[in-house]
Amino acid sequence: MVREFAHIGIPYCYRCDFDCSDGCRNCGQRYAAELEQAVEAADGAAAAFIFEPMSGATLGAVMPPPGYLQSIAEICRRHGLLLIADEVMTGMGRTGRNFAVEHWQVAPDIIVAAKGVSSGYVPLGAVIASKKVVDAIADGPGSGAFVHGFTYNAHPISVAVGRAVLRRVRALDLVRAADSSLPGTVGSA
Ligand SMILES: Cc1ncc(COP(=O)(O)O)c(C=O)c1O
Repeated sequence: MVREFAHIGIPYCYRCDFDCSDGCRNCGQRYAAELEQAVEAADGAAAAFIFEPMSGATLGAVMPPPGYLQSIAEICRRHGLLLIADEVMTGMGRTGRNFAVEHWQVAPDIIVAAKGVSSGYVPLGAVIASKKVVDAIADGPGSGAFVHGFTYNAHPISVAVGRAVLRRVRALDLVRAADSSLPGTVGSA
């Protein structure tokens, strides 16, 4: 149902658009400037920016350059755009944080999650919204509810599996175990 919308480039330090020679140490703001330009070109019509904190399916776990996520968050805040993180692949602890944005201390207005929510045992996804977004819907001129359902909304079996998976993730401390920077965890030296 989404209409055509503007896209900006993905920061890709392996083949940097700016031909830098320092591993993109200083390219974060330059890549983020593309967002600023796209928002300005939209001339007030932009409502949100959707991004993956780390490129998953399209590039294969590519990290953004330093400062990139903080810069896009700041641009969105300044222009009043919702910041929407697609954490379908990176969320639910898979990068050693509950959500990958936490590596950069960025707090999106909306996080989209799936895959790890049920560990793939059943289909389950989630849209996690901040209080600001929830209140805007609850207090808005409409029904006060999020009228965007589909056939298997809140399916009891899927939700039960999600609860079981999350219980196990917490009981086994799996998010911490996925943080390879900590001693004694998977991938650590
Ligand atoms: C980053 C990312 N976003 C969104 C999707 C789509 O998720 P779904 O199939 O749950 O709609 C995928 C699927 O692989 C994905 O990797």
